[in-house]
Formats: sequence, C-alpha cells, structure tokens
Amino acid sequence: MSSNSQPSTATGNRRVLSGMRPTGKLHLGHYHGVLRNWIRMQEDYECFFFVADWHALTTHYDDRSVMNNHVWEMVIDWLASGVDPEKSTMFIQSHVPEHAELHLLLSMVTPLGWLERVPSFKDQQEKLREKDLATYGFLGYPLLQSADILMYRAGHVPVGEDQVPHVELTREIARRFNHFFGRSAEFDQQVMASIKQMGKKAAKRFQGLRQGFTEQGDKEALETARQLILEQQNINQSQKDLLLGYLEGRGVTLLPEPAALLTEAAKMPGLDGQKMSKSYGNTIALRDDPARVEQAVKVMPTDPARVRLTDPGDPAKCPVWQLHEVYSDDDTRLWVDKGCRNAEFGCLECKKPLIKKLLEEQEVIHERAKAYVKNPERVREVIAEGDKKARLVASETMQIVRESVGTIYQ
Ligand code: TRP
Ligand code: SF4
Repeated sequence: MSSNSQPSTATGNRRVLSGMRPTGKLHLGHYHGVLRNWIRMQEDYECFFFVADWHALTTHYDDRSVMNNHVWEMVIDWLASGVDPEKSTMFIQSHVPEHAELHLLLSMVTPLGWLERVPSFKDQQEKLREKDLATYGFLGYPLLQSADILMYRAGHVPVGEDQVPHVELTREIARRFNHFFGRSAEFDQQVMASIKQMGKKAAKRFQGLRQGFTEQGDKEALETARQLILEQQNINQSQKDLLLGYLEGRGVTLLPEPAALLTEAAKMPGLDGQKMSKSYGNTIALRDDPARVEQAVKVMPTDPARVRLTDPGDPAKCPVWQLHEVYSDDDTRLWVDKGCRNAEFGCLECKKPLIKKLLEEQEVIHERAKAYVKNPERVREVIAEGDKKARLVASETMQIVRESVGTIYQ
C-alpha cells in the first residue's frame, strides 16, 4: 500500500490539521514532542487542532468517564501551552458530525485488507489484551482519521512516527475516492468556468502551458502552470485543486492528498530515563504542582556508582543528565559533566538548576492556564467558536462529496 507519489494538490496548501485523543492529563512529553510544534506552526499555517473524542471511544468505550474528565482539561492544556485561539481553530470532533458522514462514505470504497494491514490494528490489539478490540469501530480507527484529515482538505498533518501509516492510508483513500467519484459530467464545465474566472491573460497562458505538458510532456511547462494556478487571486482553493487535477489529467481532485509532517523525534526522557509516557508512570504533568515537580526530581535515580559524595559518576548512566540535555544551556551542561566525573558536588546539587528550569517553564504554563481554570466558560467559548469554523469548512467539503457520490437528489 505504500506509494512514492507526491501530493500534487497539496502544493501551496497552507492548511494543517492535527488531533489528540483525550485519554489523560498531558505531560511534558506531549509538550516537547507535539504541542511546541503546533505552536510554532500556527505562526505560518492555517491550523486546525481538534479533540479526537470518537477516536478515544474506539478503545475506551467501556469507560466514559475517561473522556468526560479529560476533554476540557486537555483543551486547557493546549491553551496553557500557547495554542492561540486567535491563530488556530480548536474544536471537538463529535461536535462536527460531518466526520461521521465522511467516514461512512469513505468506507464504501475502502478495501478491508487496507485496514487490516495498518500496523496499529494488530499492535494495539496485542498491547491492550485486556480490552476487546475486535470491533468494527476499532478496525475503522485509521479510516476515521482519514475522514478527519480529508474533511479539511489539509495539506499537512503534523504527527509522530507511529501515525505515518495512517497518513499514508489517507493518501491512498483520497486517490481511490477521486478515482471512483472524480469524473462527474460537470467536470469539464467546472474546469472551463474556473479557467475563465482566472482572467483572459492567465487563462490563455494556462491553456498553452497545459498543452505543452499534455502534448509534448514538457515538465517545465507543468511546473510553471502549477505555479500559475497557485498564484491566482480570483479563484478559490477548491477551484485550484480542480485545475491542478485537470492539468495533470487526473480528473477532478475531490479530496487532495495530504503529506505527513514528521515531528522531529523530540524524545522527552521521563523521571526514570525511559521515554516519558503515562504507561511507564514516569511523567511530569504539564500543569503539575510545583512542590511535586521538585520532589519528583529530587528522588530521581542517578548513576548508581555515586553512593557517596566522593564517588565519581558518569552522566551517560544517569537519567538526570538526559533532562539536562533538554533543559540546560551549554555552560550548565559543562558544569554538570565536570562536577559529576570529578565528584565535585552531590547529585542534589546537580539537580538544582534543572528544577529551576522546570519550574520556570511550568510557571508560564500555569499563568496562562489560570484565566481558563478560573473561568471555564472561556474554554467553552473557544471551542464553540472553533466548532463553528470547522463546521463551515466541513459543510463545504461535504457538499462536494455528496454531489460526487450521488446522494443529492433533485
Ligand atoms: N490517531 C491520532 C493519535 O493517536 C489522533 C488523531 C485522530 C489524529 N485523528 C487525527 C492525528 C487526524 C492527526 C490527524 O495521535
Ligand atoms: Fe547524575 Fe548529576 Fe548525579 Fe552525575 S551528579 S550522577 S549527572 S545527578
């Protein structure tokens, strides 16, 4: 099911979509691994971030309290980290029921084997043995994710490595959907209308370039024509997608293929030196109590060779060092390395600058969270606003989808 072809219609598409399941309090692993990336992206992209509550339900259907408790806390965690409602659209998946409709319609053309072969399907079933995951909903997990992504015609999906197969599946699904439903009788008509709308000069130039590509295989003409389309001010994004499809002879691109934006593997070490993860019980929560953070670092294990203050140690064997690598500047790291190897100070001393940095980082987060914790209504408002924007895009997409699959009757 792998493919090397580039997402041609995502070129120039500045829309980003990503989601998170509300399965627990967010911790510093989420912050350094995902959220900081979201926050960076919201400066340059049109970002949609959503609470994937239906996805959580596929594995936690027997424990609804998990979601009730976590949805709002997670949104506060996002806001506290710096996801800015003025820049990004935040919404809840189940508040946009169109996701369910698109999931259903995509399911019509999704071969069972494609879903059965997604690695997370078998992996998770084995990992979560205590749960019955031989369900229809769980098999459909990655397809629901495809619906999430395709609904917003997103060009980029920032995800961790484990999610790449899901984005890959989404591309396959988009291609298959376009193949089955992208050849409507009105296609030519829509194309011609869009070309005309570009204006006389641009239209003529576009037709010439397209001819160069389709008749002489001129790759340069193809590239120039693509650029020309992307630069047009008079036509909207769907029209651009349409014309890109026409240009490349693909028929209409109803749903553009997204690209995974691999989050640089920011491996956040936990309190025991393993990767920070809820399942290892080694986390520091994003909005942890300062006293607990301090205590947790104070009791962190260190290089076992350092029994007494006079015993030299080796940072490479110490989980505390890994945290220094994330949080400390060069000078501090030099100080640690030298002091540890020469037994110049004890481990508690070594942990002090780290505790300081952690508390400073969290103070900013606590500060931002304060207004929302005090006034939960504001969180509801952020989401209500986001839901509205998301539904607007979703209704546009569904209009195209319903028309092309033929569930609009005159
Ligand atoms: N499956 C993702 C995860 O577990 C969450 C998710 C659901 C998602 N839908 C998405 C991520 C769409 C990106 C895009 O992390
Ligand atoms: Fe770890 Fe620092 Fe102690 Fe060395 S001095 S063992 S790096 S805590």
